[in-house]
Amino acid sequence: MTSGRSFYITTPIYYPSDLPHIGHGYTTVAVDTLARWHRQSGDDTWMLTGTDEHGQKMLRAAAANGVTPQEWVDKLVTESWFPLLETLDVANDDFIRTTQPRHEERVQQFVQALLDRGYIYAGEYEALYCVGCEEFKPEAEIVDGTGPFEGLKVCAIHSKPLELLQEKNYFFKLSEFQDRLLELYKTEPDFVRPESARNEVVSFVRSGLKDLSISRSAFDWGITVPWDSSHVIYVWVDALLNYATAVGYGTDPEQFARRWPAFHVVGKDILRFHAVIWPAMLMAAGLDVPRGVFAHGWLLVGGEKMSKSKLTGIAPTEITDVFGSDAYRFYFLSAIAFGQDGSFSWEDLSARYQAELANGFGNLASRSVAMIAKYFEGVVPEPGAYTEGDLSIQRIVADAAANADAAVERFRIDEAIAAIWTIVDALNGYITENEPWALAKDEATRERLGTVLYTAAEGLRALAVLLSPVMPASTEKLWHALGAAESLGRLQDQPLREAGAWGVLRPGSTVQALSPLFPRVEQA
Ligand code: ME8
Ligand code: MG
Repeated sequence: MTSGRSFYITTPIYYPSDLPHIGHGYTTVAVDTLARWHRQSGDDTWMLTGTDEHGQKMLRAAAANGVTPQEWVDKLVTESWFPLLETLDVANDDFIRTTQPRHEERVQQFVQALLDRGYIYAGEYEALYCVGCEEFKPEAEIVDGTGPFEGLKVCAIHSKPLELLQEKNYFFKLSEFQDRLLELYKTEPDFVRPESARNEVVSFVRSGLKDLSISRSAFDWGITVPWDSSHVIYVWVDALLNYATAVGYGTDPEQFARRWPAFHVVGKDILRFHAVIWPAMLMAAGLDVPRGVFAHGWLLVGGEKMSKSKLTGIAPTEITDVFGSDAYRFYFLSAIAFGQDGSFSWEDLSARYQAELANGFGNLASRSVAMIAKYFEGVVPEPGAYTEGDLSIQRIVADAAANADAAVERFRIDEAIAAIWTIVDALNGYITENEPWALAKDEATRERLGTVLYTAAEGLRALAVLLSPVMPASTEKLWHALGAAESLGRLQDQPLREAGAWGVLRPGSTVQALSPLFPRVEQA
């Protein structure tokens, strides 16, 4: 059911030097939801995620654990990073590892092309490096250390001492791209989103660009520079290229033409790499720049950016073991404005689970299905004449679907969910007002009872379709309970952009008993 519009979307490729935490999970479920939405709308969709396995950070993590870097990444990727995708119910199309030959060979080819085109030269370098960021730090992100690091220069993000590196390096002429980048941000105002990220990038580039060191010679855990085997390619150049190598750059021109360019969703910590360095690399190689870069905010725990290195990391399974994968996805995607920082707390998670999922959506589904079972022997009734109140539900459903789709176009998953939630709230109010249990007491109001319960069931049909990219597991359960699978086919095949049409669920479908979609959780 592909309509031809290509939609290629990526997560960052994460460092498997350590275990995944809820920050990695956040980006991944956001990208998965956007990909599912487009896939189910008929777009020619491709979702990529993966791991960034070279560099000094990895080398040190492996050494600290007494194994080789390859052994370390193989272990972490198989034991923790692949399972993360299962834990969070992610339907990625590919997973790239930067130690794969399909990547390494093409990275060498790309860097060679930059050399041949005159964008690379050899030079001397001395600067402060943060291994946590794998980056020579700009002035603005170098701060004075405190406590045990008193008297040292530390990284503003990691609060760890910077290392003074002095090497012969190869450089990429990034400085030559200042004007072309500024022109790009001007002609394509949506290239960097949200607005705050765009402003930051524009002012960074306006302040002037320095050439970028793209090789290292002090260690060898990386991809060898093709013309100088004493150097490895800088890990960020290696990593950014995953987005191109994974879709056939240099090997499969047809696949590359079909997929490229991509949308990149990243945390704001790595915005500059994606919105400045990466498009400049692509321009230098004569390739199309990305379709866009969306930077989301940080998950804060106790007011600080959550991170493993600061020991505030929370494993996604801590949440999914208690609340399930759908609740994980729903919580992070609805509670935080996509693009802004958001504070995580167990109290907020539990409260929203109870109010919005268990009492709001879950209860609406359970009681509607139960009433059809009780009053119509499990058969979805035929609606009679619609009243103004019924028609208002139909309008709310149509508007919600249109507004959600428009919000997804803007990458605002939180606004899409808020739009869809107007259906949950309206239907709960509708049932309370229409009191089907009272209508059921009198044979004279039987037709009215049928109209009310059909309206509830058809509203739930729309909800199942609209929420399936966000909560694939519970909507699948609901889909079967509504008896929709038999008459309408698989949930994931329901065209999303038509979800707001009325009268899709067929009267006469047989509902199935529905166990609670969001069971009460026992709090430890
Ligand atoms: O930077 N809140 O990998 P990484 C929200 N390998 N998102 C968070 C987060 C938080 N507290 N912490 C991490 C790298 N993330 C490079 C990327 S791409 C070519 C190479 C998420 O393992 C967020 O998406 O440090 C952030 O950008 C990413 O994890 C960083 O993952
Ligand atoms: Mg990081």
